[in-house]
Amino acid sequence: MSEALSKPDVQVPVTYRKITADRYISHEYMLKEREKIWSRTWLVAGPAQDVKESGDFFVFDLDPESIIVSRSESGELHAFFNVCQHRGARLISTDLGCMEKWTCPYHGWAFNNDGSLSNVPDEDRFSRGVPRDLLSLKPLRVESWGGMIWVCMDQKAPSLKEFLGPVVQMIEPFRPEDMTLVEDQTCRLECNYKAVFDNFCELYHVEHIHPQHELIFDCPTSTAEFFENGHTRVLIDGFTVNSRLPIPEEVPPTQWAQLETLGMNREDYKGRVLDVRRDVQLKKRETGPALGYNYDLLSDDQLSDIVQYNIFPNSILVLQPEEFWILRSRPRGDDPNQCYWDKFALRMLPDAELQKNSSVTFPALQNRANVSFNLDQTSDGSMRPEHDEFDQEAIIAGEKTMTITLDQDIHLIRDVQRGMKSRGFEEAWLNDDEARVQHYHNYIDRYMEN
Ligand code: FES
Ligand SMILES: [Fe+2]
Repeated sequence: MSEALSKPDVQVPVTYRKITADRYISHEYMLKEREKIWSRTWLVAGPAQDVKESGDFFVFDLDPESIIVSRSESGELHAFFNVCQHRGARLISTDLGCMEKWTCPYHGWAFNNDGSLSNVPDEDRFSRGVPRDLLSLKPLRVESWGGMIWVCMDQKAPSLKEFLGPVVQMIEPFRPEDMTLVEDQTCRLECNYKAVFDNFCELYHVEHIHPQHELIFDCPTSTAEFFENGHTRVLIDGFTVNSRLPIPEEVPPTQWAQLETLGMNREDYKGRVLDVRRDVQLKKRETGPALGYNYDLLSDDQLSDIVQYNIFPNSILVLQPEEFWILRSRPRGDDPNQCYWDKFALRMLPDAELQKNSSVTFPALQNRANVSFNLDQTSDGSMRPEHDEFDQEAIIAGEKTMTITLDQDIHLIRDVQRGMKSRGFEEAWLNDDEARVQHYHNYIDRYMEN
């Protein structure tokens, strides 16, 4: 347990500790995680836009818990355990909605959307009385930050901002709270929630299973950073090619659409493909406001690159100036070999006000702004994509997609879980580029052992 995985950019030293298979397959380990991890950390519950207006609510399931997040009539944000205080029935069984009161389907107890008990049918038949304080919904901590709602079951845990540490200031310039949800998917995966999270803690696999990435990103020169509380970040140069491979003569087709969107001519980059990244930064800086994007808070590198935060214990935030993905794994039922894998995609839609005085219009960008997702009208008139939930088999059969890259990961992850169960597997053997996996598991250990 002494060997350090040394990297010059490590902020928190990553120490080698065994990562054995039991943590992925043991039912006992899974039950202990409920006490030691899920009930003690801040968790992404869902997108903030789902509780923008009074009466809005959504349900965040974290088996065996179910949590209601709501915006009450007074405009205050709340979170409650989704359980009726009469005899324990689940109160709400829909994903989201807008209501002033929730009525339990069993005996009809009604609760206001601030959690207070409002009505009990035949109340005079409770000769013991019905003490409102005792029988209102059980609250938990809730915060809105970064376009996301966060909840925490532990009253003694540090604040959300303390838990996230430096990550807060790093993410805020991207203004995720100004982005709009355009996609809401859940895939039922046949693996432990940590197995899929691990997959997003390293780029070692990228050259093997994501061949398309070598024409867009330079993973070998990525920079990893390690933070307190198990969080990590990785920075990857975008609008470039894999520096370990021969440099192509022309801009790869995978970049064409994006260059066209910016009004750049790919013919100009024959023989100088490596200049694209810098020119994309300049172009975005120059034309951003005219195109309806405000890049004022972002550095040049942030205009072209991709940055990914892995937030302990189960959320991955992938940020670009115009797009934000929240990827999240959650335990499913009582089986450590299963999990839910959620993807919320948010997009920065161009601001019409910024565009107003502009003479710059690129047809491709207009199309992008109106990109057709399946947006349905919600009760308050705003547009929201419908939640789509499916089995990993639907991805493998090509009936559903979470983007080609995530699909490729999903194809593989089931076999990783199968391998974990073999007598022939004892522990993971990580390389330096997988130090983020180690860092994550060291904090899993820390929580499990304390
Ligand atoms: S369990 Fe909810 S009203 Fe009886
Ligand atoms: Fe991957």
